[in-house]
Amino acid sequence: MISEETFVAKLHEAKACVIEKLLEIPELGIILGSGLGKLAHLVQDSIVIPYREIPHFPVSTVQGHSGNLIFGKLSGRKVMVLQGRFHYYEGYGMHEVTFPVRLMQTLGMKSLVVTNAAGGINPAFQAGDLVLIQDHINLVGVNPLRGANISALGPRFPDMSDTYYEGWRQRALGLMEKMKLPILQGVYAGVSGPSYETPAEIRYLRAIGADLVGMSTVPEVIAANHGGMKVLGISCVTNMAAGILAKKLSHAEVIETTERVGETFVNFVRELIQILD
Ligand code: HPA
Repeated sequence: MISEETFVAKLHEAKACVIEKLLEIPELGIILGSGLGKLAHLVQDSIVIPYREIPHFPVSTVQGHSGNLIFGKLSGRKVMVLQGRFHYYEGYGMHEVTFPVRLMQTLGMKSLVVTNAAGGINPAFQAGDLVLIQDHINLVGVNPLRGANISALGPRFPDMSDTYYEGWRQRALGLMEKMKLPILQGVYAGVSGPSYETPAEIRYLRAIGADLVGMSTVPEVIAANHGGMKVLGISCVTNMAAGILAKKLSHAEVIETTERVGETFVNFVRELIQILD
């Protein structure tokens, strides 16, 4: 297991590399989920840093993800966009999965918008919906804070009562109404994957209060919360979860749906970041 000193030293080396290329430190981090990478093209005055050029930064492998940090302006806000994230199912350790969020914290950033592709469990949802994450259930099987606490970043036992910041969620719900989108929020169950769930697992997730299921987000959000960041989460329902509809699941459907709702998603996020302080 990596020691606290080693992890913090790596973060500082990555930070040194990044700030050398930047004119100003971003205020808001945005993590783009599978198929939702298009937003990255809209960043103005952008500075693109491939992950491979940043010391200690993991490199992404999944189809539909490119690996770049993109710095610049979006809707007038100074942003750092993560184009491609690291999933536990790819074989990365939790220090790698959370490295980008830890880098944001090391840069002094306090705000994070996370997005993902998710399976819809709540039968009121349908493929193509954007759903605000109200809360999560960690079923990944591990916690990214396990091991020596990185006291430079946060406390040993962080409170998780308002992980998806209520104040921002209310504004986002108001924006959904204003944009005439369905006003949806739900509880996200984070699992490890990479196999999709069985219908029995989905019945179980529904019984314990989950509305959405996905293979990302939870580790990064725990790390963000630990480091005192405000978080807003948006799921794009790319498919109904296993057993909800009489059809099989495929990664192709996930990508197809993100492409179909890409424009709505981009418009929503662009408006949204104007109202997050
Ligand atoms: N299950 C888990 N993760 C997912 C799904 C799903 O149905 N769809 C997109 N990501």
